[in-house]
Formats: sequence, C-alpha cells, structure tokens
Amino acid sequence: MKVLSTVIELQTQLKKMHLSPVGFVPTMGALHEGHLSLVQNAVQQCPVIVVSIFVNPTQFNNKNDLKNYPRTPDSDLSLLKKVLRETDLVFTPGIKEIYPEEDLRKFHFGNLDNVMEALHRPGHFNGVAQVVSKLFDIVKPDIAIFGLKDFQQLAIIKALVKQTGNKVRIIGNPIIRENDGLALSSRNRLLEPEIRSHATIIFKTISAVTQMIKNYNITEIKSFVRESINNVPGFKIEYFEIVDDIDLIPLKTKTEMKRDKRYFGCIAVVAGKIRLIDNIEIELV
Ligand code: PAF
Repeated sequence: MKVLSTVIELQTQLKKMHLSPVGFVPTMGALHEGHLSLVQNAVQQCPVIVVSIFVNPTQFNNKNDLKNYPRTPDSDLSLLKKVLRETDLVFTPGIKEIYPEEDLRKFHFGNLDNVMEALHRPGHFNGVAQVVSKLFDIVKPDIAIFGLKDFQQLAIIKALVKQTGNKVRIIGNPIIRENDGLALSSRNRLLEPEIRSHATIIFKTISAVTQMIKNYNITEIKSFVRESINNVPGFKIEYFEIVDDIDLIPLKTKTEMKRDKRYFGCIAVVAGKIRLIDNIEIELV
C-alpha cells in the first residue's frame, strides 16, 4: 500500500494505475475490526481501493468531542498493512487539503436530517455531507462502503449521492460486534472499565425488541427500552426509535409498518461520558 497525503499525489497515482472499479472506504481513523471488514469488502470487489483517514472537524458539533476523538495513526497504518495490497492507497490529508477555504455549503435532507441523531447533534450531517462530497470529488470512486452502525449517516449519504447525481454505488456493511454484543466503535476505547463491563445492555435491550414487536405496542416497547437502559448506573438513553431505512420516519404504531419496507430499531445512549449508537433490524412477523 502507498500512503499519500495530498490530493494531487492521490489523483496522479490513481491515474497512473488506471484500474477500475475504484473502491473507497472513508474513515476518521482509530481503526478497528469494523473498519477492516469494510476494507476487506472493498478489496474483494475492486482491484484498487482508497482508504481515507481524516478526522473531519465540520461534523463535530461539540469541540470537546473533536478534541477527545481517538487518534491512533501508527496502529491504523499497521492494521491497514495487513489487509491492503500493493496497489491500494491510504489517503491521510491535512485540513487545508480538504478545506482550502471554509466550506459554507448547506445541504438539505428533509426528514432524514430532522430525526434521531440530527436532533441531538445539530449540524453533524451537514458536516458529514461536506466532507463526503469533497472526498467523492477527490477520489471519484465507483463503489464506496460505509458501516451500517451509522444507520442514519448511510441514509444521508445515499440521499446525497442522489441529489448530486454522483454515480458511485453506496454499500452498507453489517455491524461487527464484540463477543458480548457491543457494536464496534472507535469510541469504545474511551469507555471507563466499569461502564464498558455493563455496555452489553445496549445490544441486549435492542435484541429483546426484535421479539417484543410480536406482542407489544410501540409505546410499551419504547418504555421498556428506556427503563432497561436507564436502570443501569451511568447509562442514560437519548432516543430509541423504530424507523424505515429510506425515509427514517419514526413509527408511532405497528399498523404503520409496510411489508415492502425494512425497519430498524435505532438507539443512542450516553454511557459514562461517551455517546454510543447502535441499531438492529426489526421484522414484523
Ligand atoms: O463514519 C465516519 O467515520 C465519518 O462520519 C466519515 C463517513 C468518514 C466522514 O467523516
């Protein structure tokens, strides 16, 4: 693999190799097995892939969160070395490379940017859209792979691609979990040990919902989720919603569920000082 930090180097190298399809995995570093599964998927489908590592400041609505976001450049590169081939490229731009000038663009995603994460992290998805659209313009990928853990982000990126007429194919990769069910996240390494030892409650709770949907209504399910999480010391729920995967409209009743749509239970929890999100598919049987 080659590590490149400027747009010109990256584009020159891609042009020189002239391979297609070009796969792309954008990341903010602090890589773990979840990222590696995205990378492996891209490697299987494309003769050349680009993995970007860039902690994007415009998607952090909280300055402390940006400051504390884990940065592990050496370990990132050694993990990538294990899965990337000679042809593959790691793009590690500095801030000026991505934002030579302040990005003042405002994106509009309708309801997608009006529920769940958007209500708790104002401006977050505008920042994600800014950086992803810039990275797409730089890399010009044929295929881009994102984790399903960031469920709302995936819906936003699909909408972004539609709006901009970009031909890139967006693929959502399944969530990778620890043995106790906790969804892998770069933020997990920031959890205090005591909090980490109870964090399995998030997956346990949303897994229970996949069964409860048969016999309980949405209000009852939401109360169960709230209590189950808030009963654990140090854990506080921010939201739990069951939404479809296209429009992300939160269900109020089970009668709104349509057979031709897929539904996911999405949760955000503050665990100690760290905010975690997760989701699970909910099938009406
Ligand atoms: O999911 C992430 O890691 C980030 O939001 C992304 C897509 C790399 C944009 O900064």
